[in-house]
Amino acid sequence: MSLTQDVIDAINDQIANEMFGAYAYLALSLWFDAQALEGFAHWLGSQSAEELQHAEKLIRFLRDHDAPVRYRSVSAPPQQFDSIEAALQTVIEIEERNTRQIHAIYHLALEQACHSAEVLMRWFIEQQAIEEKFARQTMARVKLAGDDRGALLVLDQQFGRGEGL
Ligand SMILES: [Fe+2]
Repeated sequence: MSLTQDVIDAINDQIANEMFGAYAYLALSLWFDAQALEGFAHWLGSQSAEELQHAEKLIRFLRDHDAPVRYRSVSAPPQQFDSIEAALQTVIEIEERNTRQIHAIYHLALEQACHSAEVLMRWFIEQQAIEEKFARQTMARVKLAGDDRGALLVLDQQFGRGEGL
């Protein structure tokens, strides 16, 4: 069954949301690089690439259903942060907002019996759970490090090796 117009519109909106995420993570990556925390910068750069892949996945989905892809405007992301915690809080907020948006599309797909969109959104829902957990865990680890610069650098090195937490 073809997709409903509401679902097509919502997925087109989500493409822009994912592009915003990619943009925001690039800004965060640059900010961490300026703090000499290259490991964090590396992690956030990978996150940006992942968001771009999410946008591409949605574009392919619409294409494969012969639905039109409509690119929306993407606004400027936050670029200045008062502290590492403030920057990580932005990461958490980006992921939480993304989760709400994905859940709304899933709900719409269910309501309108767009089963292929429903299945696609299930994949995104699982991804969001992982992303949110990681963002919160990173914040918790940075808070644990507190004023201990050595502990922060160990964390940064872990990210630099792509190990994550
Ligand atoms: Fe995403």
